[in-house]
Amino acid sequence: MPSNVRSATPAALRAAAARIARGDLVAFPTETVYGLGANALDEKAVSKIFEAKGRPAGNPVIVHVANLLMLRRVAAKVPPEARELIRRFWPGPLTLVLPKRRAVPDAVTAGLSTVAVRMPDGIARDLVRLAGVPVAAPSANRSGRPSPTTAAHVAEDFSGLFVLDGGATAYGLESTVVAFDPPRILRQGAITEEELRGFFGKGMKTSAAGWRAGHRPERGGRRREETPAESPGTRYRHYAPERPLILFRRRKDLLAYAQAHPQALVLCPAWLAPFFAASRVVPLGDSIEEIGRNLFAALRTRQEGLEILALAVPRRGLGRAVMDRLERAATLIV
Ligand code: TXA
Ligand code: MG
Repeated sequence: MPSNVRSATPAALRAAAARIARGDLVAFPTETVYGLGANALDEKAVSKIFEAKGRPAGNPVIVHVANLLMLRRVAAKVPPEARELIRRFWPGPLTLVLPKRRAVPDAVTAGLSTVAVRMPDGIARDLVRLAGVPVAAPSANRSGRPSPTTAAHVAEDFSGLFVLDGGATAYGLESTVVAFDPPRILRQGAITEEELRGFFGKGMKTSAAGWRAGHRPERGGRRREETPAESPGTRYRHYAPERPLILFRRRKDLLAYAQAHPQALVLCPAWLAPFFAASRVVPLGDSIEEIGRNLFAALRTRQEGLEILALAVPRRGLGRAVMDRLERAATLIV
């Protein structure tokens, strides 16, 4: 294990908290993916995140809080619907976009009047509590790469960075981002649309397709309409493996293509894996929860193959978040 990756013991947590308090960067596990954190109230510290990731300045980052007092330090207002969601889902993988306080630097919010906030669970929450300040943290990958679900993934993207190792993350997909007035989903994630509809009913909107404004994979040659992105991050191409990725909507098309291109590597549900040579397949698991948990690691696989072929999953429950990530990783969708 490289010396900059430290097992998340109480001593390592205190060391990480001290780093954040003095304006340095720390990578840490959350229940979703690993985050690259800095003191959210320190503009200079936050700018180090953007520099390290190569992240466009126009893409705001999420602020992590340990308790409701900390939420009050960054959010000027918490509407009643947000309060209900907090009671039900925090600590957990749900991010709320709220009016920001002036204390939050523009670097965090990309100049927007809102700030995205969540209260993570476990090690991440302990770290934020120990640091004593809200922690701004995007996913701890270089901009455009798949999000990290293990400490080794973080070390792959950033050599020399201080990384708290808490093992593989529980969800493996980022938090769901919700905005208000009216309540709507800006990014599909670990909390499903179905769960949120339980709160908001049919009035709940989704505007999570805005990424296409910046990235339009060919869909059978057809260009897509430009849609303005409400969640700026969804505008950029993301999660891209180092090889071309073709996303297949139909199983029979995947099987036919794989047969004609035995040098390709297939990512698919475990039940389909026996249809391919063992050396040319990455089984993602049986349930959609397993597929979600294993997806980003699979997009980083070093297994041989000229191109990556993946199969679409049904767009319901966690399948919506999985499809969002697959579509943004894809160079071609057929
Ligand atoms: O699970 C997660 O959310 C992880 C862990 C580390 O907490 N974080 C994460 O951060 O995924 P990031 O930076 O990779 O994605 C943040 C998303 C982006 O799509 C960004 O545009 C959006 O949240 N966002 C941040 N602030 C926003 C704001 N004020 N209004 C709308 N969208 C915002
Ligand atoms: Mg990210």
